[in-house]
This record gives sequence, C-alpha cells and structure tokens, in this order.
Amino acid sequence: MDIKGKTALITGAAAGIGRATAIAFAERGATRLLIADVDEAGLAETARLAAGDGTRVDVCKLDVTDSDAFAALFDGDASIDIVFNNAGIVSGPPPYPGTPIKRIELLVAINLTSVIVGTTLAVRHMQAHGRGGAIVNTASTGALNPYIDDAPYAASKAGVVMFSRSCGALKDRDGIRVNAVLPGVTETPILEKLGGGERPEWLGPIMEGIRIHQPSDIAAAVVRIVEDDEMAGDYVTLSNDRAAS
Ligand SMILES: NC(=O)c1ccc[n+]([C@@H]2O[C@H](COP(=O)([O-])OP(=O)(O)OC[C@H]3O[C@@H](n4cnc5c(N)ncnc54)[C@H](O)[C@@H]3O)[C@@H](O)[C@H]2O)c1
Repeated sequence: MDIKGKTALITGAAAGIGRATAIAFAERGATRLLIADVDEAGLAETARLAAGDGTRVDVCKLDVTDSDAFAALFDGDASIDIVFNNAGIVSGPPPYPGTPIKRIELLVAINLTSVIVGTTLAVRHMQAHGRGGAIVNTASTGALNPYIDDAPYAASKAGVVMFSRSCGALKDRDGIRVNAVLPGVTETPILEKLGGGERPEWLGPIMEGIRIHQPSDIAAAVVRIVEDDEMAGDYVTLSNDRAAS
C-alpha cells in the first residue's frame, strides 16, 4: 500500500515508537493521522512534530481499554486505511510473580485485549469501506523468549503474534492485511517504566552488550510492512544484535 494520500490511526502515539511512526507516515505523504493515547501533552508534541506539508493530524485522547471510545474513532464517514495498534505497558517492579494482580489485569487489557478489539474494529470498518487496509500490531521479541521477571508481558506479546498470524486469511477475503512487528530493546520512555519510573540498574549491563534500536528503526519496519502488499499474517522481528566490540 502506498501511504501517500492515506489515513492512519496510531495508538500509543504520545511517545516512543508510536510518535516515530506518526512522523514516518507523515514523511511518506499520509494525508490524515489520528493519533491516540492517554497522554494529552505527549500527543500535542507528536502532532507538532508530524503535522505539515499536506498531513492533517487529529489528536484523540483515548484509553484503549475503553472499547466504546475506541469504536467511536471508527464512526466517522472517512475511510481509515492503516491502523497501528501500538499502545503497551510493562508490569514494572516487583518482578513476577510479585506483580500485583490488578497490574496483570491491566497489562493484558492494554497489551492484548485492546489489540484484538482495535484490530476487530479496524477490520469491520475496512470491510464496510471496501478499500482493503493494513493493520500492524506491536508485539515484542519478548514474545519469542521465556522471561520470568515479566512473564505476563511475554505472554501478552506472544498472544499478539498468534492473533495477528491468525488474521492472515483476511488478505484474500477482504484485502485487509494484518501483521505484527516485534521490536527488541528500543530507546523509549518504556525503559524507565521497567524500573517503576527510573531505568533499573539491571538494564545497564544488558544494554551495554547489545545494539539498541531507536524508535525510528521500528517506525521504518512498520512502514515496510504497510507498503509490502504481500505480507499478511506475518511478523517482522527486530532483535538486538551484539554491539560491535
Ligand atoms: N521500547 C522497547 O524496548 C520495546 C520493545 C518491544 C516492544 N515494545 C512495545 O512497543 C510499544 C510502544 O512502546 P514504546 O517503547 O514506544 O513505549 P512508550 O512508553 O514510550 O509508549 C507507549 C505509549 O502507550 C501509551 N499508553 C499506555 N497505556 C495506554 C492506554 N491504556 N491507552 C492508550 N495509550 C496508552 C503511553 O501513554 C505511551 O505514550 C508497546 O506496545 C511496547 O510494549 C517496546
């Protein structure tokens, strides 16, 4: 799909990977961006960075766990061609199994349930408009590797991968392509959330030994997935190679 002239909805767009993807879509000529997040100040900054030269940006304050509010974003007449279900959280301290039960419930609601709901709403909207579409869901390399300290996170992201793969058949049926992106460690504010507000000490040695991605690296992969008309029910993994010594 050519992003030029298209409308895209991005969740978790107030920072990090979502913000970088909004900017990347604007650079590829998207006509309209709907950027959604709970963080209004962050959304305003993303809008400032992404708007211009033929790209209109509409800011949508949205908690993705509010399925009625999420559905309302798809209610307008205009066709939404691209949806990036990207909002996500980590459990933070204490490590699993000490994670509070309410935090586990919230994590699954944001990382997995809202991705399934967001994809479903997008698919129905795209079916109604009959123009096909591209949906990309953010998982993580954590979906592929057992990770005891945040086992709920790993499980939620593995769920995103299998859900996206299961939706691959929608390409032949409706021209709607659902895929996932699996970032490795990426330099975004979520790294502070791993430590409950501060970057945890244990992360330092890990980050020294690997090549850390920038949000723009992940955004470039999302752009490639949207542009590749063959990809459906597939996923792109951006693992962290060892840093050159
Ligand atoms: N940064 C990494 O190392 C990394 C690695 C693998 C996967 N990911 C995934 O990438 C995605 C984006 O994360 P990021 O690294 O840019 O982190 P981030 O914390 O910078 O961005 C996440 C955004 O999601 C928003 N959000 C959280 N809960 C929400 C809710 N209920 N409704 C709406 N918005 C909500 C936050 O406000 C924030 O703006 C997440 O799904 C994350 O799990 C990140």
